Amino acid sequence: MKSTPNRAVDRQKQIYLAGLQGKRTHIPIDLKQIIEICRNRLPRDAFDYIDGGAGREDTIKENRRAFDRWRITPRMLVDVSEVNTEVSLFGASYASPFFLCPIGVLELAHPQADLAVAQAAEDVDLPLMISNQSSMDMESITATAPTCATFFQLYWSKSDDLVRSLVQRAEKVGCRGIVVTLDTTFLGWRVRDLDNASLPFLVGKGIAQYTSDPVFRDLVLEESGMPSAGRLNWHAIKAFFSMAQRHPGSTFQNLRSRVGLKSVQKFINIYIRPSLTWDDLGFLRSITKLPIILKGILHTSDAKRAHDEGVDAIYVSNHGGRQIDGAIGALDALTSISKELNGNVPILFDSGVRGGSDAYKALALGATMVGIGRPYVYALAAGGELGVHEQLENMLAEFELTMALCGSTSLSEVDIDHLYRG
Ligand SMILES: Cc1cc2nc3c(=O)[nH]c(=O)nc-3n(C[C@H](O)[C@H](O)[C@H](O)COP(=O)(O)O)c2cc1C
Repeated sequence: MKSTPNRAVDRQKQIYLAGLQGKRTHIPIDLKQIIEICRNRLPRDAFDYIDGGAGREDTIKENRRAFDRWRITPRMLVDVSEVNTEVSLFGASYASPFFLCPIGVLELAHPQADLAVAQAAEDVDLPLMISNQSSMDMESITATAPTCATFFQLYWSKSDDLVRSLVQRAEKVGCRGIVVTLDTTFLGWRVRDLDNASLPFLVGKGIAQYTSDPVFRDLVLEESGMPSAGRLNWHAIKAFFSMAQRHPGSTFQNLRSRVGLKSVQKFINIYIRPSLTWDDLGFLRSITKLPIILKGILHTSDAKRAHDEGVDAIYVSNHGGRQIDGAIGALDALTSISKELNGNVPILFDSGVRGGSDAYKALALGATMVGIGRPYVYALAAGGELGVHEQLENMLAEFELTMALCGSTSLSEVDIDHLYRG
């Protein structure tokens, strides 16, 4: 499958010609403006959950600084009338080297949440990583966008039975790989969320993969005793109602049985396993034939170990600066990890990608595919499904143009020779 810069040129034409009729795009092209719309539209705790990070948010800034340190040096007099952005991963071919990162609790941005995002990803032909903390269950997401390539992101629960069940469900809905997120053995110290005293999971948001899971439901039933909702005031009643409403079944019955509250408590107790080590990977390998991708790798020794352990891909990420304040910029980690691995294993990358030229830099530094994170969430809040669709189109268009303007006609020509470290 060939793509050409026509796609980007078409996008520009479409926008400029509509401008002649006084029409503008559904959401702005400029990400800063999209973020402002998002900030003005969402309740403060929702915006902060999406936009915020750990501590003083220095890692978020460092992710951008790492990009800024690399400059692009384009090559001239190359025939760029055709540009091929095709990439292959685990034997499948994709029209472009982007994917949508796994992002939980999308209902904070828009009521259509994962369904809107999956639909947009399918329309634009980009793979989607379904989050373990999504607002809708994986069956509904994949049913909404049946031709969208999907991967399932797993938070390794304390219950092996639950891990097995989630993985089996992911296989059943056609996911193409299991992305194990390693960097969240605990939630990071997220100052904005702590100041807002707000964590979405506690009101039953972002736990749909659990409440839809037969093993999880059995685990909830096994809970003996009635959990206490604490002292009942207006906030507690609202939280209690939110939990019951989000649990499958009748809200009234859920309120009576307190199953919403029980599920939240069970979820908190088991959703992550801080004791996880390299030795546990064998279990995952024993229960699935799907490719295993380790997300959150930042150290070259871990990357090397992962390769030695036979994982199928490494996913370099610092979780968008949400876990450790003062962490290495993800792009810097990518640079040394790709040198270490020398093309022997595919490397996925995210954290700080804000435009097509960022993706160009990440690919030039050794990424096989590049993840779009917060930008699509801001776009979802600003413009729903159409907002996400436009945002993804724009990212692809800018990337293709960057390739053409740099004189790179295929991804194999996107290399460090086109970069200068300032
Ligand atoms: C609101 C929010 C929720 C997220 N939820 C998850 C998640 O459920 N699982 C996961 O592996 N990563 C999660 N991430 C991290 C993303 O997958 C990705 O690593 C990060 O967004 C990349 O950074 P960037 O958005 O600044 O580019 C989340 C990120 C955000 C902003």
